[in-house]
Amino acid sequence: MLILGIESSCDETSIAVVKDGKEVLSNIIATQIDIHKKYGGVVPEIASRHHIENICYVLHEALDKANVSIEDIDYIAVTNKPGLIGSLLVGLLFAKGLSYMYKIPLIPINHLEGHIYSTFLENDVSLPAVTIVASGGHTSIYTMDEKHNLELLGETQDDAIGEAYDKVARMIGLSYPGGPSIEKKAINGIDNLNIPLPNLSGYNLSFSGIKTYVTNYINRCNMKGEDYKIEDIAKSFQDTAIKHLKNKAIKAVVDNSSKTLAIAGGVSANKRLREMLNNSPELEGVSINFPVKMEYCTDNGAMIAAAAYYTLKYKADTIDKTFDATSTKEFHRKR
Ligand code: KG4
Ligand code: ZN
Repeated sequence: MLILGIESSCDETSIAVVKDGKEVLSNIIATQIDIHKKYGGVVPEIASRHHIENICYVLHEALDKANVSIEDIDYIAVTNKPGLIGSLLVGLLFAKGLSYMYKIPLIPINHLEGHIYSTFLENDVSLPAVTIVASGGHTSIYTMDEKHNLELLGETQDDAIGEAYDKVARMIGLSYPGGPSIEKKAINGIDNLNIPLPNLSGYNLSFSGIKTYVTNYINRCNMKGEDYKIEDIAKSFQDTAIKHLKNKAIKAVVDNSSKTLAIAGGVSANKRLREMLNNSPELEGVSINFPVKMEYCTDNGAMIAAAAYYTLKYKADTIDKTFDATSTKEFHRKR
């Protein structure tokens, strides 16, 4: 089964062709990072305009690279929520147009489910599992059962972990996106700020306190006329944020006697996160799955196609048919 996956919820225009939910024939990503860098974050209006400019080229490249034509595609999958509305609209309406013109059924996909399925690309994830999305917009912990049903265990009560990375990076003069910039600086830093771990019950998380601690530390240094090392701030922030996420992941795995942990989203690209989870004695014997390729961590079309494949296979009754333009005529006739 060939699925065309379309993603445009934020600042990446991406289209992929994925075979049977696993084999990535192409995954073209037109990133706008360099455009938004000078503003220190994504500017929604600019993002939408660039999606409009890029999306046709991205489609052609995705089909060419996969060596297929649009007529070979069995389903079109597209991110329909959550995200920047102008950005979402470009991908969604483009997908609807393709679906209507070529009579290919359309499957709307929740962006978070897309991230979850990024760990299934070119990889076998055994279920049941604890699965985590750690991105710029979300930090959520779920269980997934053998039938792919998701249950939310907990989520951040304020900033997402990637958002905290981006904000702290900005404070210390590092460029957007903050995750990779902080990761790089932290290599030469020391965890010497003594940032307290957030104290939340259950599986919920919080990252804004860690961020505020850094703000106060910088303000204190400035008031006293003391120097601070951005490497140490990067290292202290990163290790505290990851430790907090790791502790919640361990709690979810232990409480649910899970043998599998899957972690996805932009922050799952972080090497320190991978190292800290892989070296946790509490997770010994647990299969820890990260997206196989770095390009599957951040936003991409392949994960959207994978999510559609498993949705069709296990939860076809949950697909919202109102998004399917192939049924538009019938819909109008009925009305
Ligand atoms: O999943 P994603 O591409 O978009 C959302 O759905 O939000 O995640 C983007 C987030 C940004 O906040 C970025 O700073 C973070 O992922 N990120 C990282 C790394 N690469 C991207 N955070 C930590 N370490 C990284 N290597
Ligand atoms: Zn995302």
